[in-house]
Amino acid sequence: MAIISYLTTVRLDPGARRHLAEDLKAAGISRPLMITDRGIVAVGLLDEVRASGGLDSDLPVYDGTPANPTEEAAYEALALYRSAQCDGMIALGGGSAMDLAKAVAVLATHDGDLQSFAVVNGGFAKITAQTAPILAMPTTAGTGSEVGRGAIISFKDGRKLGLLSPYLIPKRAICDPELTLGLPPMLTAATGMDAISHCIECFTSPVDNPVAAAIAIDGLERAIKALPRAVANGSDIEARREMMVAAMEGALAFQKGLGAVHALSHPLGGYRDLKLHHGTLNAVLLPPVLRFNESHCGKTYPRLRQAVGLTDGGDLAGFIASFAAGLGIPMSLSALGVPESILPDVAKAAMLDHTHATNAKPTTEADYLAMLREAY
Ligand SMILES: [Fe+2]
Repeated sequence: MAIISYLTTVRLDPGARRHLAEDLKAAGISRPLMITDRGIVAVGLLDEVRASGGLDSDLPVYDGTPANPTEEAAYEALALYRSAQCDGMIALGGGSAMDLAKAVAVLATHDGDLQSFAVVNGGFAKITAQTAPILAMPTTAGTGSEVGRGAIISFKDGRKLGLLSPYLIPKRAICDPELTLGLPPMLTAATGMDAISHCIECFTSPVDNPVAAAIAIDGLERAIKALPRAVANGSDIEARREMMVAAMEGALAFQKGLGAVHALSHPLGGYRDLKLHHGTLNAVLLPPVLRFNESHCGKTYPRLRQAVGLTDGGDLAGFIASFAAGLGIPMSLSALGVPESILPDVAKAAMLDHTHATNAKPTTEADYLAMLREAY
């Protein structure tokens, strides 16, 4: 049975941030906590959004969002949410700020510790409509978390786990490509490759959702054309807008399910000391996963080849590898500083990731290890 569900109201276009006050009202938020990170504050984006959105000068702000959102940061932000008597959040930033806001939205309205809400701990059924509302304002084009129902949190015990619920979907999203103009080329490339990996993995997943599949293909076509332009010239507002659309579409396709790329990049991203970027990891993992899945993608690969401009029977994995390398991404796990000794543990953890079940081809621990070695 195909289940197709779209919920978030999105305001998209350069300058969309000026409608923040009215969108907060529409989301039912009167006392927001701003969740962001210090980089956003340092480059003046917080001040810009505060001024252009007409927000109160005493707006409570949590700017401690780490590069990979952590359990500790969620509890810190929760304390501020409670002390400032907030009734919702504005998430201003990349996937980390948005995912952190989702964790706070659950903690603020439910009993239980954060790990009990992870999807692998039965969290899907525990997260209810009581979840606090979020208005998302992405400053990167990659994760698509502004329209996604998931959040990935790094826990103290080293695990990186997903929260998943339709109640985590932000009530409103303001996608203003002007907020991404200052994103440096490497982050533009890495976050863009995350969006591309979402489109490809969702399109090839075996879950039946033709609407999500069509959205994923559209996102892929846009990203393949726009990402090199956005990396080469960060002020290309049209390319930035296209990437924002592609990122959103990648996440709108999530309900079709991700696969082995994310099953591997989630546990790899859980090694906090290594500080691995999620999108960079996905770029490195995509080629071996595409090769591994090929035997089960006889129907989907021809359309993917067409979307990226390859001829019939073209080498999809080879195309993605040279596309990402051309954006300046170091295309091996060893180049990213991953120690070879952790690969068996990563393969084991991938079997437990919530995206494992929807990979295009059934995958064993040995298969994961082989893909990791190929990516090494
Ligand atoms: Fe991702």
